[in-house]
Amino acid sequence: MVTVKDKVFAPFIEREALNQRIVDMGRDISRDYKGRNPLFVVVLNGAFMFASDLLKGVDVLCEISFIKLASYEQTQSTGKVKQILGLAEAVQGREVIVIEDIVDTGLTMSQLISQLKAQEAASVEVVTLLHKPEAQKIAIDLRYVGFEIQNRFVVGYGLDYDGLGRNLDAIYVLAE
Ligand code: IMP
Ligand code: MG
Repeated sequence: MVTVKDKVFAPFIEREALNQRIVDMGRDISRDYKGRNPLFVVVLNGAFMFASDLLKGVDVLCEISFIKLASYEQTQSTGKVKQILGLAEAVQGREVIVIEDIVDTGLTMSQLISQLKAQEAASVEVVTLLHKPEAQKIAIDLRYVGFEIQNRFVVGYGLDYDGLGRNLDAIYVLAE
Protein backbone atom coordinates (compact mmCIF):
# COMPACT_ATOMS: atom_id res chain seq x y z
CA MET A 1 0.00 0.00 0.00
CA VAL A 2 1.13 3.57 -0.62
CA THR A 3 -0.32 6.80 0.71
CA VAL A 4 -0.54 9.77 -1.61
CA LYS A 5 -1.65 12.90 0.22
CA ASP A 6 -4.84 11.80 2.05
CA LYS A 7 -5.61 8.58 0.16
CA VAL A 8 -4.39 5.00 0.25
CA PHE A 9 -3.57 3.12 -2.95
CA ALA A 10 -2.97 -0.59 -3.56
CA PRO A 11 -0.61 -2.20 -6.13
CA PHE A 12 -2.40 -2.64 -9.47
CA ILE A 13 -0.01 -3.09 -12.43
CA GLU A 14 3.53 -4.13 -11.54
CA ARG A 15 6.63 -2.61 -13.07
CA GLU A 16 7.53 -5.89 -14.80
CA ALA A 17 4.10 -6.17 -16.46
CA LEU A 18 4.36 -2.54 -17.62
CA ASN A 19 7.84 -3.18 -19.06
CA GLN A 20 6.77 -6.24 -21.03
CA ARG A 21 3.67 -4.63 -22.49
CA ILE A 22 5.51 -1.42 -23.40
CA VAL A 23 8.22 -3.37 -25.25
CA ASP A 24 5.45 -5.05 -27.30
CA MET A 25 3.79 -1.71 -28.05
CA GLY A 26 7.11 -0.25 -29.24
CA ARG A 27 7.54 -3.23 -31.58
CA ASP A 28 4.00 -2.82 -32.95
CA ILE A 29 4.57 0.87 -33.68
CA SER A 30 8.00 0.19 -35.24
CA ARG A 31 6.45 -2.44 -37.53
CA ASP A 32 3.47 -0.27 -38.54
CA TYR A 33 5.55 2.86 -39.19
CA LYS A 34 8.55 1.22 -40.83
CA GLY A 35 10.07 3.55 -43.45
CA ARG A 36 7.84 6.43 -42.34
CA ASN A 37 8.71 9.46 -40.27
CA PRO A 38 6.02 9.99 -37.62
CA LEU A 39 5.70 12.94 -35.26
CA PHE A 40 5.01 11.77 -31.72
CA VAL A 41 3.02 14.22 -29.61
CA VAL A 42 3.40 13.43 -25.92
CA VAL A 43 0.60 14.69 -23.67
CA LEU A 44 2.12 16.21 -20.54
CA ASN A 45 2.26 15.81 -17.65
CA GLY A 46 0.87 12.30 -17.28
CA ALA A 47 2.48 10.58 -20.27
CA PHE A 48 6.08 11.61 -19.59
CA MET A 49 7.23 8.33 -18.02
CA PHE A 50 5.34 6.07 -20.44
CA ALA A 51 6.60 8.04 -23.45
CA SER A 52 10.18 7.85 -22.23
CA ASP A 53 10.07 4.05 -21.94
CA LEU A 54 7.94 3.47 -25.06
CA LEU A 55 10.09 5.56 -27.37
CA LYS A 56 13.29 3.72 -26.39
CA GLY A 57 11.71 0.72 -28.11
CA VAL A 58 10.66 2.55 -31.29
CA ASP A 59 13.25 2.15 -34.02
CA VAL A 60 11.90 4.33 -36.82
CA LEU A 61 13.19 7.84 -37.54
CA CYS A 62 10.76 10.09 -35.74
CA GLU A 63 10.28 13.47 -34.15
CA ILE A 64 9.03 13.93 -30.61
CA SER A 65 7.12 16.92 -29.34
CA PHE A 66 5.14 17.80 -26.23
CA ILE A 67 1.77 19.33 -25.50
CA LYS A 68 0.28 20.13 -22.13
CA LEU A 69 -3.43 19.66 -21.45
CA ALA A 70 -5.48 19.36 -18.31
CA SER A 71 -9.06 18.29 -17.61
CA TYR A 72 -8.84 16.82 -14.13
CA GLU A 73 -9.21 18.30 -10.67
CA GLN A 74 -8.40 15.90 -7.84
CA THR A 75 -10.03 12.57 -8.80
CA GLN A 76 -12.89 13.87 -10.96
CA SER A 77 -12.91 14.96 -14.59
CA THR A 78 -13.98 18.60 -14.81
CA GLY A 79 -15.36 17.93 -18.28
CA LYS A 80 -13.36 20.83 -19.69
CA VAL A 81 -10.02 20.56 -21.39
CA LYS A 82 -7.60 23.44 -21.06
CA GLN A 83 -4.81 23.55 -23.59
CA ILE A 84 -1.88 24.98 -21.70
CA LEU A 85 1.06 24.62 -24.02
CA GLY A 86 0.80 24.45 -27.81
CA LEU A 87 2.73 22.49 -30.39
CA ALA A 88 5.80 24.15 -31.87
CA GLU A 89 6.19 21.66 -34.75
CA ALA A 90 4.20 22.03 -37.96
CA VAL A 91 1.62 19.27 -38.05
CA GLN A 92 0.43 19.78 -41.62
CA GLY A 93 1.03 16.68 -43.74
CA ARG A 94 2.61 14.77 -40.82
CA GLU A 95 1.74 11.32 -39.56
CA VAL A 96 1.01 12.12 -35.94
CA ILE A 97 0.98 9.61 -33.08
CA VAL A 98 -0.38 10.99 -29.80
CA ILE A 99 1.09 9.43 -26.65
CA GLU A 100 -1.29 9.57 -23.68
CA ASP A 101 -1.22 8.05 -20.19
CA ILE A 102 -4.92 7.19 -19.90
CA VAL A 103 -8.16 7.61 -21.83
CA ASP A 104 -11.05 8.02 -19.42
CA THR A 105 -14.11 9.89 -20.78
CA GLY A 106 -12.29 10.38 -24.09
CA LEU A 107 -12.89 14.12 -24.01
CA THR A 108 -9.22 15.10 -23.91
CA MET A 109 -8.31 12.83 -26.80
CA SER A 110 -11.26 13.76 -28.99
CA GLN A 111 -10.48 17.48 -28.60
CA LEU A 112 -6.79 16.97 -29.28
CA ILE A 113 -7.49 14.78 -32.34
CA SER A 114 -9.84 17.47 -33.69
CA GLN A 115 -7.16 20.13 -33.21
CA LEU A 116 -4.54 18.05 -34.99
CA LYS A 117 -6.89 17.27 -37.87
CA ALA A 118 -7.79 20.97 -38.14
CA GLN A 119 -4.05 21.59 -38.54
CA GLU A 120 -4.17 19.14 -41.48
CA ALA A 121 -2.18 16.23 -40.07
CA ALA A 122 -1.93 13.47 -42.72
CA SER A 123 -3.02 10.95 -40.07
CA VAL A 124 -3.61 10.93 -36.32
CA GLU A 125 -3.31 7.75 -34.23
CA VAL A 126 -3.36 7.34 -30.47
CA VAL A 127 -1.19 5.22 -28.22
CA THR A 128 -2.39 5.13 -24.63
CA LEU A 129 -0.98 3.14 -21.73
CA LEU A 130 -4.37 2.76 -20.02
CA HIS A 131 -8.00 2.83 -21.15
CA LYS A 132 -11.16 2.82 -19.02
CA PRO A 133 -13.79 1.55 -21.50
CA GLU A 134 -16.66 1.89 -18.98
CA ALA A 135 -15.94 5.58 -18.43
CA GLN A 136 -15.70 6.49 -22.09
CA LYS A 137 -18.32 9.01 -23.24
CA ILE A 138 -16.95 9.87 -26.67
CA ALA A 139 -16.08 7.22 -29.25
CA ILE A 140 -12.49 7.46 -30.43
CA ASP A 141 -10.36 5.05 -32.38
CA LEU A 142 -7.49 3.99 -30.09
CA ARG A 143 -4.85 2.33 -32.24
CA TYR A 144 -2.57 1.08 -29.44
CA VAL A 145 -3.80 0.36 -25.90
CA GLY A 146 -1.52 -0.98 -23.17
CA PHE A 147 -4.09 -2.14 -20.63
CA GLU A 148 -7.87 -1.89 -20.42
CA ILE A 149 -8.78 -1.25 -16.78
CA GLN A 150 -11.92 -0.91 -14.69
CA ASN A 151 -13.40 2.49 -13.96
CA ARG A 152 -11.26 3.10 -10.87
CA PHE A 153 -8.84 5.89 -10.01
CA VAL A 154 -5.18 5.04 -10.49
CA VAL A 155 -1.86 6.78 -9.78
CA GLY A 156 1.81 6.25 -10.49
CA TYR A 157 4.06 5.86 -13.51
CA GLY A 158 3.23 9.43 -14.54
CA LEU A 159 -0.38 9.55 -13.36
CA ASP A 160 -1.16 11.85 -10.45
CA TYR A 161 -3.57 12.39 -7.64
CA ASP A 162 -3.81 16.15 -7.15
CA GLY A 163 -0.33 16.62 -8.60
CA LEU A 164 1.28 13.90 -6.49
CA GLY A 165 2.31 10.28 -7.06
CA ARG A 166 3.68 10.64 -10.60
CA ASN A 167 7.09 9.34 -9.56
CA LEU A 168 5.81 5.94 -8.38
CA ASP A 169 7.40 3.33 -10.67
CA ALA A 170 4.25 1.22 -11.11
CA ILE A 171 0.46 1.73 -11.23
CA TYR A 172 -1.55 1.81 -7.99
CA VAL A 173 -5.33 1.88 -7.54
CA LEU A 174 -7.38 3.82 -4.99
CA ALA A 175 -8.21 1.40 -2.15
CA GLU A 176 -11.95 0.85 -1.64
P1 IMP B 1 -10.53 12.18 -20.25
O1 IMP B 1 -10.53 13.47 -20.99
O2 IMP B 1 -11.72 12.05 -19.34
O3 IMP B 1 -10.36 10.97 -21.13
O4 IMP B 1 -9.33 12.23 -19.22
C1 IMP B 1 -8.07 12.00 -19.58
C2 IMP B 1 -7.12 12.64 -18.60
O5 IMP B 1 -7.59 12.61 -17.25
C3 IMP B 1 -5.85 11.84 -18.61
O6 IMP B 1 -4.92 12.40 -19.49
C4 IMP B 1 -5.37 11.91 -17.17
O7 IMP B 1 -4.52 13.00 -17.03
C5 IMP B 1 -6.60 12.14 -16.37
N1 IMP B 1 -7.09 10.90 -15.72
C6 IMP B 1 -8.11 10.10 -16.10
N2 IMP B 1 -8.26 9.04 -15.29
C7 IMP B 1 -7.28 9.16 -14.36
C8 IMP B 1 -6.89 8.32 -13.23
O8 IMP B 1 -7.46 7.26 -12.91
N3 IMP B 1 -5.82 8.78 -12.53
C9 IMP B 1 -5.15 9.93 -12.83
N4 IMP B 1 -5.47 10.71 -13.87
C10 IMP B 1 -6.53 10.33 -14.63
MG1 MG C 1 -3.12 13.23 -19.08
